[in-house]
Amino acid sequence: MAPQDTTNTSTDGGLDPFSRGYAGSLDETDPLSSFRFNFHIPTLADLKRPTLTKPPEEEPSKPCTYLCGNSLGLQPIRTADLINAFLTQWRTRAVTGHFTDLPDSPLPPFLDIDDHAAKLMAPIVGAVEAEVAVMGSLTANLHFLMSSFYRPSKKGEGRWKILLEGKAFPSDHYAVESQIIHHDLDPAEAMVLLEPTDSHIPILPTKQILETIDKHASELALILLPGIQFYTGQYFDIQTITAHAHSHGILIGWDLAHAAGNVDVKLHDWDVDFAAWCTYKYLNSGPGAMAGIFVNEKFGKVEMEGSTPKFWPRLTGWWGDDKSTRFKMTNKFVPRPGARGYQLSNPSALDLAAVVASLQVFNETTMAELRQRSLRLTTYLEQLLDGITLRHPGIFDIITPRDPEERGAQLSIRLAPGLLDNVLEHLEHQGVIVDERKPDVIRVAPAPLYNFFVDVFHFCQVLEEALIKASEPLTT
Ligand SMILES: Cc1ncc(COP(=O)(O)O)c(C=O)c1O
Repeated sequence: MAPQDTTNTSTDGGLDPFSRGYAGSLDETDPLSSFRFNFHIPTLADLKRPTLTKPPEEEPSKPCTYLCGNSLGLQPIRTADLINAFLTQWRTRAVTGHFTDLPDSPLPPFLDIDDHAAKLMAPIVGAVEAEVAVMGSLTANLHFLMSSFYRPSKKGEGRWKILLEGKAFPSDHYAVESQIIHHDLDPAEAMVLLEPTDSHIPILPTKQILETIDKHASELALILLPGIQFYTGQYFDIQTITAHAHSHGILIGWDLAHAAGNVDVKLHDWDVDFAAWCTYKYLNSGPGAMAGIFVNEKFGKVEMEGSTPKFWPRLTGWWGDDKSTRFKMTNKFVPRPGARGYQLSNPSALDLAAVVASLQVFNETTMAELRQRSLRLTTYLEQLLDGITLRHPGIFDIITPRDPEERGAQLSIRLAPGLLDNVLEHLEHQGVIVDERKPDVIRVAPAPLYNFFVDVFHFCQVLEEALIKASEPLTT
């Protein structure tokens, strides 16, 4: 029996958790439910229409069930207003838009828009304001930060290796590999790869990570790990692993692509050395939007010895230069203190308008509150999924850790072999958007800002139908 649509009561007379009525009651009582109304949710007609423009005769349509914010977040309604404000500011002020403060504009002068974005971003990753910059894109920023934090000794002498996951996101793997080659070292020797002990359970326990650090400590120059693993949804124990790396004198950076805007990381308190993340997933800033970096305040210090600035080594560009002297064109680089001293180019104000729009929404609540809501949503998802496997044993398993503290919003569901394509086809046909990782995994992420419990319920209902349908040819 699939989760019920019609019968809402359980045997004790209360609402049955496996009913739409129960899911709806959770939405009604949840204090953050109304954040959903800050977002555009594509309708079923939007998704099916072959054109961008809606024909006038089109019937009104229901919103789709979108559980794919781990891949691309939805568009905040205010994004269009802020992008329009940017266009107006550019159209009516041209170059003076860099400097003119317009009291009725939702955006600061172009010259300050990156600082404004960083200020809004800092609380989302638990950083002191100066530790964050909004710049570039994720892979480019990882390279850029590694150019600063991966400074290997010669092979066999001191620290020259990097510890990362064997199944890191390919871009992270390539970035590490090419950094190693860039230093004339051999990736086969210099990459220490963390592999799960049982390939069927792709989780990396903290104990294993700490032991691997111990084993290679004297040779490790850097550790690069994900805050949340893109495939399994595992939330790494950033605080414990960072402290352990530091106890061996190893620098550690975190890729927070799947963690920023999802879980309440505390980068400053956890003493992380550096981190990088994109803004198009849980941070809802649009495809390829400008990204974020965190640089621990100790690596952002600038001390003057006479007229010579002393600072942590980095690749430099004029946007990292002291703001008061940036336009003096002296060719004498004095970095701004903090992460902003790591900026290179003047940023796209168009892009940042979208980032600011999204961050404004986040700043109307806190990550601590969002995380609490996220725990409720994902636990509900897990409960309904467990109900399906009780009715259809072996049809899938959940590879994401079962401990809520060890995961974010996402659950990764590994289907029995051969079901994926048909299941996805059915989900798509019913207007349910999730994400797939071949050969057998679907990733489902109720985004804490805009998903309803009813979305979770509806997904599970359609998933069960899809599984039954997809299994038919296998069982008959
Ligand atoms: C964990 C992780 N690292 C790196 C990337 C690459 O990001 P970008 O294309 O923005 O450089 C992604 C993209 O999804 C990702 O999920």
